[in-house]
Amino acid sequence: MTTADAQNGAREPVRVYFTGTCEGLDKLREALSNHPELEVVGASEQVSQASSVLAGGHLGCVLHATNSPSLPMNELAAIREQTAAPVIVLASGAQSTLLEEALESDVSDVLLLPQLTENVVFAIRKASHAGRKLAAQGGHGRHGKIVTVFSPKGGTGKTSVATNLASALAKHGGKRTLLLDLDLQFGDAAIMLGVEPEKTIYDLVVAPGELDSEKLAGYTTHHPCGLDILPAPLRPEDAELVTEAKLGRLLEVARDSYDVIVVDTSPFFHGPMLATLDRTDELLMLCGLDVPTLKNVRLSLQTLDLLSFPTARIRFVLNRANSKVGMSKKEVEGALDMKVAFEIPSDRAVPVSVNRGNPAVLGDAGSEFAGAIKRLAQGLVTPTPAAAKKAKKGLFSLAKA
Ligand SMILES: Nc1ncnc2c1ncn2[C@@H]1O[C@H](COP(=O)(O)OP(=O)(O)OP(=O)(O)O)[C@@H](O)[C@H]1O
Ligand SMILES: [Mg+2]
Repeated sequence: MTTADAQNGAREPVRVYFTGTCEGLDKLREALSNHPELEVVGASEQVSQASSVLAGGHLGCVLHATNSPSLPMNELAAIREQTAAPVIVLASGAQSTLLEEALESDVSDVLLLPQLTENVVFAIRKASHAGRKLAAQGGHGRHGKIVTVFSPKGGTGKTSVATNLASALAKHGGKRTLLLDLDLQFGDAAIMLGVEPEKTIYDLVVAPGELDSEKLAGYTTHHPCGLDILPAPLRPEDAELVTEAKLGRLLEVARDSYDVIVVDTSPFFHGPMLATLDRTDELLMLCGLDVPTLKNVRLSLQTLDLLSFPTARIRFVLNRANSKVGMSKKEVEGALDMKVAFEIPSDRAVPVSVNRGNPAVLGDAGSEFAGAIKRLAQGLVTPTPAAAKKAKKGLFSLAKA
């Protein structure tokens, strides 16, 4: 075992993706496909055809093969637009120009084929390890957790859960929390929180200049519970200006400023959603006790699989879990072949609080729904020491806050 391997801890396989082509690539790809320390996610000769996997694949390393005698700058830039994963360039024969140019670039390594399989695996592990270390050191030391609340069906309770969860994390969990409304056309997170925003995500993405933490702070709306909100555009037609690339950058910046970023979504896998999935640490998949939702959740799981989204990051949340509608939690688990991680009861407190513009977890903290949301919040993040102290006193428990 190498030092890099030892530091990698559990020796989780490194997820790699191949782009481009060069002599000897097929043989190498076959050898790497069977290697226990790697998971070859896929391959595409054209970088443009691989954008969704590059963006959403949680890759540890991209192997880009080239026949060009010089560094393929355009292809590398196209990869960089999609992913921050380390890139190793594969080439055949002695390419002196390419090697020189690579020294000046952000390419992690250049390997001239043929190579011993173990040498390539070592280079991949080393690049992936360095990439992770760099990501962990980035920003201001904070590396916010991205919690995405999704359901492929409208009206499942995404916004109710996202707004209450974010409020609970901010108020009871002591977390610096941002609620990002990614239901870009018809987002109603701000309304449910009773705030009238002056600025939205649209204003942020069309504003000139580089995005950084300070700029982001100028576009969020503060809620008295401690939560910051970045609302959806006010007009549906403005949604398309919130592009995948802009959203990727926004989330990277938000991670530097917040402990948790809760993302409310629409029931679609659009570009900005893919950028979000690429960075999502916990995907809360909302499910209800009804056959159409169940069918669509199953389809979503297949899509997530195609996007190479890691199953370990998906948690099922059964909303309106206590409804007597002729379907049980067991049946849902059987149909999805996955366990329900959290149950949220159907509670009159939810529509009442929605109409008041005050999340139940704040305005009706003793309700069953609020209790379930606090359990969800506790299950997702470890409380800060201050919050842990409060929890001991019952403030972060099921008791009325
Ligand atoms: N656990 C619950 N108990 C009672 N009512 C609920 C519950 N969860 C959600 N609701 C109600 O269901 C309605 C739809 O919820 P919500 O807007 O959160 O769903 P959504 O998935 O965000 O919908 P959309 O896809 O339209 O954005 C709301 O009126 C809300 O009050
Ligand atoms: Mg919604």
